[in-house]
Amino acid sequence: MNITMIGTGYVGLVTGACLAEFGHRVTCMDLDLGKIERLKNGEIPIYEPGLDVLVAKNVKDKRLRFSSDMADCVPSAQAVFVAVGTPSSRRGDGYADLTYIYAAAKDIAKHLTDYTVVVDKSTVPVGTARQVQRIIREENPEADFDVASNPEFLREGAAINDFMRPDRVVVGTDSAKAREIMREVYNPLFLLSTPFVFTGLESAELIKYAANAFLAMKISFINEMATLCEEVDADVVDLAKGVGLDGRIGSKFLHPGPGYGGSCFPKDTLALLRIAQEHGVTARSVEAAVEINSAQKARMVKKIRDALGGNEAGKTIAALGLAFKPETDDLRESPPLSILPPLAEKGAIIRAHDPQAMKEAKKLYPNFIYVENAYEACDGADVVVLFTEWNQYRALDLADLKAKMKGSIFVDLRNVYSPKQITDAGFTYYGLGRK
Ligand code: UDX
Repeated sequence: MNITMIGTGYVGLVTGACLAEFGHRVTCMDLDLGKIERLKNGEIPIYEPGLDVLVAKNVKDKRLRFSSDMADCVPSAQAVFVAVGTPSSRRGDGYADLTYIYAAAKDIAKHLTDYTVVVDKSTVPVGTARQVQRIIREENPEADFDVASNPEFLREGAAINDFMRPDRVVVGTDSAKAREIMREVYNPLFLLSTPFVFTGLESAELIKYAANAFLAMKISFINEMATLCEEVDADVVDLAKGVGLDGRIGSKFLHPGPGYGGSCFPKDTLALLRIAQEHGVTARSVEAAVEINSAQKARMVKKIRDALGGNEAGKTIAALGLAFKPETDDLRESPPLSILPPLAEKGAIIRAHDPQAMKEAKKLYPNFIYVENAYEACDGADVVVLFTEWNQYRALDLADLKAKMKGSIFVDLRNVYSPKQITDAGFTYYGLGRK
């Protein structure tokens, strides 16, 4: 099948490469000429494990190519995926900015020839697919097309595996013909007995928001429980295990941390709240999850300050991890970047390390000191704070780390180490939800 992917951001590139790997002929299209040129030269603009190899292999086998021209790739495609960005609007009101989606729909319309399914892959508010349908119809009344909503559930750092072995594939469309084409697109997954959820357009759009909001709620819940554990001398790691083994609850997404971040949860929870508000209904559970997440980040600032005896001025903080989670260089809404700046403003010196995200961080926070590894970060530090659970921070030589430091405080915001491991190395321990 010929497939065109509009947008070569994170979702577009991963999805395009994976669909090529399924055997389809895929063109990834982007209006950004520079980006397309770099992709043609084999440069992958993001860090995602395995993506470079997958792209190179499919380009070599001639199933994947790049283009900056819709005329060159839309007319021949049976399915055109729209995977352009939907950032939070600049107004700061939580609404998703759909400018790029609507512009893409208009452009696609001009190039439609034979029957085509236009697939919304980007996360968009309920009703967007119908708008896309309307825009294409207005722009090209003769076009033979249907619209489908096919939300992605890819986790950064595990995106290729998530695509190849998803828990489910959600396809929303009113058209039986479009459903058949989407079935063909995902045929290898059908053969693996992956559950398919076929719905109407609006349900598919809402499923994505509801799934992300539920996961955000789970994280905020466990973060609140961690705070409670600290007060009553319970251990949140034991609590999460005891609770999560109930099959109705499940053990995933019950790890306390400095708050959720990234390109999806913060944006999608706010967008869901706006959708609810617009329709005159409440989504209080989601509202609470968002509030708790902000409070969690503020609480982490206080935790570090308290660990430093209530005053961070002139103190050196070794920050391990800047990305919002491991295996990504993404700094969007990354909790350490909400937690460290207020401490730096009050005079703390930040010595930071991250295996992938430092290049970007240097541009955003030029005042931090960037170093090559965790041990260098600890050189002369008063406190070490583990923000992101990268594998290379999981088996640190704690005695070595301590020997480098001036102080002896370890703040483990991911509960990577047991309190005993840390205190045995001579540190004073601060974790989340455990003494
Ligand atoms: C998420 C969804 O998982 C994915 O399905 C959706 O399509 C996009 O958003 P992603 O943003 O890549 O994926 O990250 P994810 O692994 O879900 O983690 C999000 C945040 O939650 C991270 O900041 C992570 O550290 C935090 N988190 C996750 C916790 O604090 N505790 C947990 O138990 C799990």
